[in-house]
This record gives sequence, C-alpha cells and structure tokens, in this order.
Amino acid sequence: IHIPDLIQKKRDGGTHTRQELETLILGFTRGEVPDYQVSAWLMAVFLKGMTAQETADMTLVMAESGDQMNLGDLPKTVDKHSTGGVGDKTSLILTPMLAALGLTVAKMSGRGLAHTGGTIDKLESIPNWTPELSEERFIEQAREIGLSLVGQSKALAPADGKLYALRDVTATVACLPLIASSIMSKKLASGAHTIVLDVKVGAGAFMTTLDAGRELARAMVDIGTHAGRQVRAVLTDMDTPLGHMAGNSLEVLEALDTLRGHGPHDLTELCVALAVEALAAYGEDPQQAEARARATLQDGSALAKFRAFVAAQGGDASYVDDPNKFDIAAGRAEVTAPTDGFIGGIDALSVGRAVLALGGGRERKGEAIDHGVGVELLKKPSEAVKAGEAVMRLYHRDGRGLEAALKLLQDGLSISPSAPQVHPLILDRVN
Ligand code: URA
Repeated sequence: IHIPDLIQKKRDGGTHTRQELETLILGFTRGEVPDYQVSAWLMAVFLKGMTAQETADMTLVMAESGDQMNLGDLPKTVDKHSTGGVGDKTSLILTPMLAALGLTVAKMSGRGLAHTGGTIDKLESIPNWTPELSEERFIEQAREIGLSLVGQSKALAPADGKLYALRDVTATVACLPLIASSIMSKKLASGAHTIVLDVKVGAGAFMTTLDAGRELARAMVDIGTHAGRQVRAVLTDMDTPLGHMAGNSLEVLEALDTLRGHGPHDLTELCVALAVEALAAYGEDPQQAEARARATLQDGSALAKFRAFVAAQGGDASYVDDPNKFDIAAGRAEVTAPTDGFIGGIDALSVGRAVLALGGGRERKGEAIDHGVGVELLKKPSEAVKAGEAVMRLYHRDGRGLEAALKLLQDGLSISPSAPQVHPLILDRVN
C-alpha cells in the first residue's frame, strides 16, 4: 500500500481497514514510514476522526506492536491512567497506595504531553531513577513490592511511544481516537486485569466538556471490556490545576507531602476515590475500602512503598526522606491579585503552558527539560484575596520564559466580587 494514498484517504474522510492501520502504524514503529508522513496522517485523523471500529483496531494494532505482558499469577493486578492534566501527580501517590493495600500495580506511564505533565518526567526528578526495566524485572519487582512503573519502550506498545512523542509536538493530542488508542494500547499491553481511568474534563484537559469526556470514557471502557478487562472510568474536574504544584520536581514534592498525609484536599480526595474504585473492582465494600485507603496515607505504608519503588528502579531514595535535596530553580516571581475579591478561576491550560514556557516541557521531540521549574498556586478558586496579594509563585531558571509565563498566568487568573461555586472534583463515572 502506498502511504500517501492512506494519508489522502483519511484527509478525505475515509475509513481505514485494520490492514491499512497495520501498514501505517507498524511501518512507522519499524522506522520504515517517516515522521513527516505520520505527522500529516495524524493531523488528518485529528480533523476527520475515526469510527469506533477504527479506534478499536488502532488500539489493538498498537497494543500488539510489541510484547504483551502476562501478569497471570500476580495477585490482584491493577493499572491506572489519566487522560492528562495540569498538576496531576495522582499516579505518584495512588500507585504506592494501591501497593500498600495489597494490590499489584504494573504500569506503563508517559512523559509530558502538550501542556500536561507526565509521570515519567516527574519521576526523573529523582536522580538515577530509571523508567527502563526488562520485562522480567518489571514482573519480578511487581511481585516483590507490588509496584513497577515503566516508560514507553521498544518492548511494550512501542507504537504508542513513537506516536506519543510525535503528537506531543504536532498539535495532534486532543483527539478522542488518538487518546483512547494511546492509553488503552498501553493498558492492554501491560496486562493488568483491572484498569481505573481518570478522565479529565475542563480547560486544562484534552476534553473540555463533560459530554466529550463521557464519550472518551465510554470508548476506552468499551475497548478494555471487549479485551476481557475490568475497566472503571471516573470523570474529574481539570478546570483548575490539581493540588498546588505544577512542574516536575515541585509535583514530586507535593506527592511526598501527600504520601505523608499532609497533601492538599483535592489531590488527597482524588487519590482516595480512585483507590476505592480499584478495591471495589475486587469486590471490597466501598466504605471499608475508603477507610483502608486513607490509612495508607496516615500510617506511612504508602510512603514506604514509594521509597522501595524508587530504590528498586535505581533512584536515590534519600530524596524521598529529604525533600530539600531536589534541585528547585532558584528564581522566584509572583502573580498578584489585581483587585480585592475571591479567586474566580485559575485556568489550568494557562498554568500548563506557563510551565512549558519556563522550560518544564518540550517543543521538539526528545528535548531535555528543566525539572526544577514550575508554578505554585498559593490560592485556589473561591479563596478570598486582597489587591496586591500573591496568588501564584513561579520558579524560574535565570529568567528563562519568565515574561511569557507571567503573561499566561495573569491572563488565566480571574477575580470575582463574590465567592464562586467550585465544581465538584468527581463529575461522573462510566463503567
Ligand atoms: N495519556 C496518554 O497516555 N495518551 C494520550 O494520548 C493522552 C494522555
């Protein structure tokens, strides 16, 4: 099959056969189809969409592009994935919680994508921590400590690794079939029986409306269920960044606070809610599950799992116990409230873009990032502020991107005369 013909077919709104998808995606994975043709094709998919059948076919082609893990004899396997948000460090907290609760997490995560952060980039803030494990190690570590977490690799769903990096820098991320196939190919290849999906909705998410979020959730749940997995999706708010920190090292610091039981309310509640979903999928009574989940953040058991996990993947575990070791950029600047009032909104997209501007994400494939930069929310929506009071703090490296970041954050801040209603964090569920 001629690749330009396939690009043209999608450009003109056609429907691909599974064989056509294999030609494109497996050819690209093998390095035979170049980035520029796949970039053009991704844009055509972005603009023309895919049918449910094409999305399901694409997911399976991607899942089968490398090895498929057999976690068969591991107890209570569970995987979790977010569709992407700003300040969304949930996986850093939830996965050790799940391990502490007796479940087994063997998970594949991504790097930053567009304006959203990625678990792998965050964990690489810890010196020597590696996202690369052999398949044997991946399974052995999951057996030993209940948690292994790898990045996209040549072994598992390599097609997603390559497509993800290309989408990140070609404005082709926020597209239902591309997100659904990206996430579910990783989840199917890494083998867990139960999959908990956190579908983000709002200004800082790729799905900005609840209806679009529901549609994405439904597509992913259907693909997973069809493949014999137990899938639960929770739709959660992403108008405002989650917690207070956005930026790689800063988010690890906040995750460590949360693992010590001192996390921000929204982040803690989300982690507990997702843990309850995972336990409930294994038949546990939700009330008991909630109490057990909360306890892991109070009794140090989730933190202990995180420490063991960091060390098992080569990381310097002393960072877990001494957060002062993290290399946080020394530059500081603040965004202040222009008037008295209440925080109406802090636009998550602006915050995500500000982190990118400061150097915390990529504009080109494979670019190095600065883990130490980011944004701290000193206030959250509905809190009272006085004119001139600091609302956000920027952590910058020698002024790089500072002006652009300040402008984005100022534009993304709204102050209202009365306390606005805050969205509930959990908007809906799809099973
Ligand atoms: N997370 C993923 O792994 N892939 C996407 O496309 C979006 C979020």
